[in-house]
Amino acid sequence: MKILKVKNYEQLSKAACDIVTKKIKNIEHPVLGLATGSTPEGLYKCLIERYEAGEITFANATSFNLDEYVGLDETHPGSYQYYMKDKLFNHINLPAERAFVPSGTDEDLQAHCEAYEDKIKKAGKIDIQILGIGINGHIGFNEPGTSFDSRTHVVELDESTREVNSRFFNSLDEVPTKAVTMGIQTIMDADEVVLIISGENKADTVLAFMESEISEEFPASILKKHPNFTLIVDEPAYSKV
Ligand code: GLP
Repeated sequence: MKILKVKNYEQLSKAACDIVTKKIKNIEHPVLGLATGSTPEGLYKCLIERYEAGEITFANATSFNLDEYVGLDETHPGSYQYYMKDKLFNHINLPAERAFVPSGTDEDLQAHCEAYEDKIKKAGKIDIQILGIGINGHIGFNEPGTSFDSRTHVVELDESTREVNSRFFNSLDEVPTKAVTMGIQTIMDADEVVLIISGENKADTVLAFMESEISEEFPASILKKHPNFTLIVDEPAYSKV
């Protein structure tokens, strides 16, 4: 595990952006694993800026998002499809037919999960997977207790996750109870993994991550076993270690 400690959110976003930029420039058909939440917003802004400056192109890229809420379609502002269009896809030249986000509304979600895994396999592999972390150590929507062998599947969200994510909805009642997420094994299969953690509200999570044994009770702990894993963390998030 490589740890990159930076001063603040701005530097964290730039450090992640530099890593992704390098991949995009060096790989002919880069496959990006993308995340949602507040943390990657600065990274996406930086990628858009570099695209607009002509420094990078997404013309040959493919992307796979980690997760989506069950029951929300792309028109719902709380959905991750909506988020991705709003924060990144609408502003770059990544072909829409190669910007994959799991569907939360497919009639047969099980079949959809299997098809999603197949699409990743067909793309070769994910060259770089960006991750955030939930306060309970979840990655994607893989809550504590999820098998390390898991592949894309439907999950029941923890109440704590619903509460934290209710800030993106009008009320807690509106937050879906289920989601589709890439599995932990799907994430571990990526060539390179970058976990970004920012802010004082994640200080306990960073401490728990640093001290964690590798255990399904703290899903992110498995990343310590990944051969090409970087944790980028800012000073407020690292303040309790
Ligand atoms: C959601 C997403 C995760 C993300 C987490 C943390 O639960 N499913 O992929 O890592 O939120 O988000 P934030 O960056 O907003 O703290």
